[in-house]
Amino acid sequence: MNHTDSYDRQAVGRVISERGHLDGPLMPVLHGVQDALGHVPEQAVAQIAQGLNLSRAEVHGVLTYYHHFRTQPARRPVLQVCRAEACRSVGGEQLLRHANAAGGCGVEAVYCLGLCAMAPAVMLEGQPYGRMTAQRLDDLLDDVGGAR
Ligand code: FES
Repeated sequence: MNHTDSYDRQAVGRVISERGHLDGPLMPVLHGVQDALGHVPEQAVAQIAQGLNLSRAEVHGVLTYYHHFRTQPARRPVLQVCRAEACRSVGGEQLLRHANAAGGCGVEAVYCLGLCAMAPAVMLEGQPYGRMTAQRLDDLLDDVGGAR
């Protein structure tokens, strides 16, 4: 596999065949690809252009003009969940499971964030938060744009 094939060509092909017949198909296709892959890889521009009978420049122009479209996967926010004793005793482990199940962020276990008095504690993108609950964690992850 060379680098021009390092994305899911089949998924892009499916979107093109579902939406390529629409009037003005480029935007619906770009949205569809981003929904399917989480971003629109630069390498897919040629396939999309060919599938829609457009030039690569046209596809590339639209893709880079709209900020909505990403050509790289979104960076996942990093969430650290404390697994040390004080946090563990008040629900830290459930928080960890909740975070893993919620997805959308990179979850790391840590051992004491120095916030034992405010257990359970987490650190999101380097910012500490105490007395965490599953509900607050969901809200925080929404705020940092973790795709969930
Ligand atoms: S034990 Fe969790 S912050 Fe110290």
